[in-house]
Amino acid sequence: MPKITYIDSAGTARAIDAEVGATVMETAIKNDVPGIEAECGGACACATCHVYVDEAWREVVGGPSPMEEDMLDFGYDVKPNSRLSCQIKVTDALDGLVVRTPERQA
Ligand code: FES
Repeated sequence: MPKITYIDSAGTARAIDAEVGATVMETAIKNDVPGIEAECGGACACATCHVYVDEAWREVVGGPSPMEEDMLDFGYDVKPNSRLSCQIKVTDALDGLVVRTPERQA
């Protein structure tokens, strides 16, 4: 099982075993990871699942789709490494992924 580490804005890290095929958002919600709200349930329509992808992982994770980019405009404190976590599918290649949650969601 790929392990994903979520680091909140206070610096607290939570390492979670993720299911391949789930999304980074679903994994967070299922495991009560704070800092991700996911109001639209993963439809790329709310931007409250915003995370920052660790620099070392940006290339592996890849960038947002044009639709995701449009939605990210509504995110809080968006940075070049911002992604919507409902749009990142967990694969074995993401074992060890580190994402940070923003201070607050949109
Ligand atoms: S959960 Fe709404 S955009 Fe990701």
